[in-house]
Amino acid sequence: MERLHVQTPGKSYDVVLEEGLRHRLSDYIESTYSKILIITDENVAELYLEDVRKALGKRGHVYEAVIPAGEASKSFRRYEELLDHCVEAKLDRNSLILALGGGMVGDLAGFVAASYLRGIAFIQVPTSILAHDSSVGGKVAINHSKGKNLIGAFHHPEKVLYDTETTDSLPEKEKRSGYGEVVKHALLSDEGWFREVMNRTIKDLDTEEVKKDLIQGIRLKARIVGKDEKERGIRKHLNLGHTLGHAIESELHYGSITHGEAVVIGTLFALRLSNLDEPFALLMEWAKDNGYPLGIMEELEERNLVDRMKVDKKAQNDQIHYCLLSEIGSPFVTEVEEEELLQSLQQFKSEVIQ
Ligand SMILES: NC(=O)c1ccc[n+]([C@@H]2O[C@H](COP(=O)([O-])OP(=O)(O)OC[C@H]3O[C@@H](n4cnc5c(N)ncnc54)[C@H](O)[C@@H]3O)[C@@H](O)[C@H]2O)c1
Ligand SMILES: [Zn+2]
Repeated sequence: MERLHVQTPGKSYDVVLEEGLRHRLSDYIESTYSKILIITDENVAELYLEDVRKALGKRGHVYEAVIPAGEASKSFRRYEELLDHCVEAKLDRNSLILALGGGMVGDLAGFVAASYLRGIAFIQVPTSILAHDSSVGGKVAINHSKGKNLIGAFHHPEKVLYDTETTDSLPEKEKRSGYGEVVKHALLSDEGWFREVMNRTIKDLDTEEVKKDLIQGIRLKARIVGKDEKERGIRKHLNLGHTLGHAIESELHYGSITHGEAVVIGTLFALRLSNLDEPFALLMEWAKDNGYPLGIMEELEERNLVDRMKVDKKAQNDQIHYCLLSEIGSPFVTEVEEEELLQSLQQFKSEVIQ
């Protein structure tokens, strides 16, 4: 069992990582909650809802809401449906929402928890590799058709209870997606870890290695969020790879490519803009070997991508702010001119789709 701690001015909470934790959830959830609403998606429900139900079995007033899997569910429609569930179950200020699933469920259920009755408690029970990132830090949101995560809040969970065994059942594409955020964290952290990650094979991940990466990623995120809860300064570093990544996802209507896959393409581009040739070449080779869909760039227009970057909520006064690296482990944020972005994107496209 590993216990990490997140300490922000607004809230402090534990992140517990343990194999098989879902069977022992009751040990970690206070018995004082009046009601519990488990929110999950159809895929995760099929795999783990029964275990969680059993683990909470002795408690009364446990409700469930199962939504369709996929990013499209981070929508006004599902948000409203879930609020209906809260109202129908008569959740009150002492009730708890349990977000059982990947980042989609965590973000959506977290936003429900943030807004219902002006905010009730929620606990993250992440089941995807990617969710090592999304479950920590208190950002919760739904998407708008014009951009990702445009409607949201800062609302920290009471706890993050991570059953590391659950990531074994992820489809390969989702493991690839999760490793997008791991690569980002490694590049923000240190060269040694980045090189270790470049030795991982997504098809053949070792449980212990995954656990190690999750712990290092959460440690890094906790450290950054602890210093800058509301993203006024260094939390912006966590956007490495996300400016282009979000634009790609948005252009493709959150369908054909996963978040982390888009982040890897965005991170490659950030390394290119940072003039870090050796890490760029290493990540490019790793991304190709591990099936990241770099060829998708061929379908995308540079102009449209830049326009998307301008509506990204991190853009300020139409200026595009970019997280770059002076070297591995040393990120900084800078403005990049539109013209430079267009030109660099053109060149980048020809490099990645060869
Ligand atoms: N709040 C934040 O700080 C933050 C940070 C990063 C990403 N995000 C958000 O996270 C989301 C992406 O998260 P995600 O990749 O976990 O997506 P997801 O929740 O959609 O999960 C991906 C797929 O894997 C399935 N799945 C989840 N756990 C599984 C398991 N254990 N076994 C088998 N299948 C499983 C899901 O049903 C889904 O089909 C995006 O919406 C992104 O914006 C938020
Ligand atoms: Zn991300």
